[in-house]
Amino acid sequence: MTIGKCVSLTVVAALCGAMAVAVPASAQTVKIGLINTYSGPMASNGDQIEKAINLFMKLGQCKLPPGVNLEIIKRDDTGINPETAKRLAQELIVRDKVQMITGVVWTPNALSIAPLVTEAKVPFIIMNAGTAMITERSPYIARTSFTLWQSSYPMGTWAAKRFKTAYVAVADFGPGHDAQEAFTRAFTAAGGKVIGTVRMPPPTSDFAPFLQRVKDAKPDTLFVFVPAGKSATAFMKGFGDLGLGQAGIKLIGPGDIVTDEELPNMGDVPSGVMTMFHYSAAGDRPANKSFVAAYQKEYGPNAWPNFISVGAWDGMQAICDVVRAQGGKVDADKTMLLLRGWKNPNSPRGPIEIDPRTRDIVQNEYVRETKRVGGIMKNVELETFPMVKDPWKEFTQK
Ligand code: PHB
Repeated sequence: MTIGKCVSLTVVAALCGAMAVAVPASAQTVKIGLINTYSGPMASNGDQIEKAINLFMKLGQCKLPPGVNLEIIKRDDTGINPETAKRLAQELIVRDKVQMITGVVWTPNALSIAPLVTEAKVPFIIMNAGTAMITERSPYIARTSFTLWQSSYPMGTWAAKRFKTAYVAVADFGPGHDAQEAFTRAFTAAGGKVIGTVRMPPPTSDFAPFLQRVKDAKPDTLFVFVPAGKSATAFMKGFGDLGLGQAGIKLIGPGDIVTDEELPNMGDVPSGVMTMFHYSAAGDRPANKSFVAAYQKEYGPNAWPNFISVGAWDGMQAICDVVRAQGGKVDADKTMLLLRGWKNPNSPRGPIEIDPRTRDIVQNEYVRETKRVGGIMKNVELETFPMVKDPWKEFTQK
């Protein structure tokens, strides 16, 4: 609405006056576009982001100057769907005029959004998608989640001290390829031998044909990446049904395969599984205990946040911090400058920071054993690899 229209028409002028009283001159709404998976078979992953953001806002964690508000505009990408994600990002940027984009569970979706945020200069804070090279696709990307290299590379080193042979089975898309490459590189460099590799289509729920091949190959250990959520539970069922554990094959992987919220649906199969990861709902840190308690108070005693929730929780913290630092007048380049080196010493997962050089997250990785504690299956943290930078960038950029 222009001043001109207000002064030329009496009725509208009165209306403009009324609006001027209702909305203080300093009022500033910062629009954030949230692209998330709200429907389809992978929606449980999107639910983790949704719950964390809603809780963060409800608990008043987003501390903004008086008169500054966030408007979160939510859009459903329906799953691994790069074309839809691209269209949604385009609409959010052009029509809704968002000043930042966030969310995004899936790597292919993040990759399709990257060129748009570069062109429009819209900061894109990734709350999940974990393929290492995503952050290289735009100077306007920063990530608060993880990379698969961060977990799978140290897992390879750890595993080589315990097993001679490994079979590697991964979902056939970006994060799976990274998990395979990272694990294989570290495991073989430390003297282990990979005796077989299989790539499985990401939406599959029938893992039996792949697992039969693994069983026949008789490796000491099976390293697996499948997406967190329902896929992980389907995988675990296949592993149990085919009796790989009884055949003496030790299951290992990044924490996606023992995703916290699905542990109650996996029965006893994950008992003894060893994983490397940056977050466990069982983490013994005070910040995590209060996070899990708040989550369960809000969503029920059986609701468990997983790493996707924590990526979103910390992502909201980063967004609110940079909006506050700019007094609500958000500039894209200033936002990126603030995100470079952004820190939270007290995340539920431990200390975290965004590497100013790569715009990617730096965080602890924990060796965990999945086991029952007081009757509840948990990922118990045993050992810490402190402040791990994405190893892929460390290798490729040296
Ligand atoms: C990804 O698409 O990057 C992705 C999805 C689910 C996961 C991990 C990574 O569990």
